[in-house]
Amino acid sequence: MEKPQTAQEIAAALRLALRGLVRPVAVLTAEHRGVRHAMAATAFCEVSMDPPSMLVCINRSNATYTAVAEGTEIGLSLLSEEQEEVSRRCGGGAAGEDKFAVGEWLLEAGKPPRLADGCAAMVLRIAQCVDHGTHVVVIGEIVDIAHGAAPAPLAFHDGAYFFPLTQAALNLVAQSRKTGEADGMNDGYLMMDLMRAFYWFDEGLQSALKARGWQSISRSQSFTLANIALGIHRPSDIARNLGISRQAVSKMLQEMGEQGLITVEPDPDDKRASLVGFSEKSAQLRADALEILMQLERTIGERIGARALKALRAALGQDWGALPA
Ligand SMILES: Cc1cc2nc3c(=O)[nH]c(=O)nc-3n(C[C@H](O)[C@H](O)[C@H](O)COP(=O)(O)O)c2cc1C
Repeated sequence: MEKPQTAQEIAAALRLALRGLVRPVAVLTAEHRGVRHAMAATAFCEVSMDPPSMLVCINRSNATYTAVAEGTEIGLSLLSEEQEEVSRRCGGGAAGEDKFAVGEWLLEAGKPPRLADGCAAMVLRIAQCVDHGTHVVVIGEIVDIAHGAAPAPLAFHDGAYFFPLTQAALNLVAQSRKTGEADGMNDGYLMMDLMRAFYWFDEGLQSALKARGWQSISRSQSFTLANIALGIHRPSDIARNLGISRQAVSKMLQEMGEQGLITVEPDPDDKRASLVGFSEKSAQLRADALEILMQLERTIGERIGARALKALRAALGQDWGALPA
């Protein structure tokens, strides 16, 4: 391997090396004279626990930098897997207030904007700025920090968004299939196969909906819509099926209601409970989703053969009876 010699060659080699890393993604924000700024960032890390501080490297040509240079506080929100669109907007895909059109932003006057629905959100009081080359290293002491409900972080790898926990789950499933094969269980575990198949469908559905111009919906939202389609309307049943708390499900249902995806009505049989259903407004989204699911099924048929697809549907469509004791 030839060693890079010039500064340009070294920079190119560094870029290549950095592309190979899996970097968590954050959004850095600042407000100055009533104007809000936001930029995606991967060049950030912790500096010290005493005092608790973080650093971020900001290109001086970024508009956000002008606000940082003149302000005293910045916001740093660590993004979750479900915030790829937020990162795209803040990473150059949108301008001005459009950056804040997606995501649950905490917008308090005099405070930098933060995301409530990410992995964590902090307010940093700027302690030091160190100029170097094209960038400024901003060190800030944390004066406020809150954890979001979403534990799975969004990452960037090889020039694309990357979902480390989902990827780990998929690897586990692939691994368990291999282990199953090595153990002579040629089909691995059926439950793992069903999970892998579900992810295949869900990812196919999500990207096709996005291609049709729909705002991206999270996996939990997608699960919830699938539950409603299966005739499950009680938030407590949905919470149990999703494996999340009632509190988390009611927050999500409220958001989905606000987005016009569902309706949440009082349960006529139980005054303290509510029932969720599809909203009129989501009819076109559902029609598109059904069309995409049919298309995905046709693709499976082309790939594994019509007979295998028919057999698969027949086996899954049978009544498996009550759970064994
Ligand atoms: C995934 C990702 C990571 C980024 N990381 C950084 C970073 O660490 N520092 C930086 O200065 N710019 C980074 N950028 C670029 C800025 O987010 C981008 O230039 C943005 O449009 C700046 O917005 P502004 O000019 O409104 O401040 C990143 C962009 C993306 C998409």
